[in-house]
Amino acid sequence: MRPDSIPHASPTSLPGYAATGRIDELRATEYRHLDAGGQVYLDYAGSGVAAQAQVRAHHDRLLAGLYSNPHSENPTSAAASSLVESARRAVLDFFRADPAEYAVVFTPNASGACRLVGRRTTSAGLRRWC
Ligand SMILES: Cc1ncc(COP(=O)(O)O)c(C=O)c1O
Repeated sequence: MRPDSIPHASPTSLPGYAATGRIDELRATEYRHLDAGGQVYLDYAGSGVAAQAQVRAHHDRLLAGLYSNPHSENPTSAAASSLVESARRAVLDFFRADPAEYAVVFTPNASGACRLVGRRTTSAGLRRWC
């Protein structure tokens, strides 16, 4: 059978398709830059694709304030530290994780996270916080 003669159903006729309408809406608005290049992106372990609203919010934040490396005491550093702590709290809230029990650790990438976990591995196995 030639590939172009294989019958196929329109996605809109599939059960449950209508319930996913919000995804189509997001794709057409927040992620339209993917369609502009005719691209499909699947490697979210490699990098997330930023939504238009995220890019705009970050752009506005950078134009409205001054940020430098966190963990210092000067005003630009304190501003960055405050944002980092807000992000930590947002992650904990998202997972409904008790901050007394869980910590959020930002790493440069997935390999960096795996390296940290590996370094915490002992002969007895992974320590609890990993
Ligand atoms: C396909 C793919 N996605 C994601 C990753 C994770 O990359 P990174 O460690 O830079 O976050 C890798 C790493 O090799 C990869 O091969």
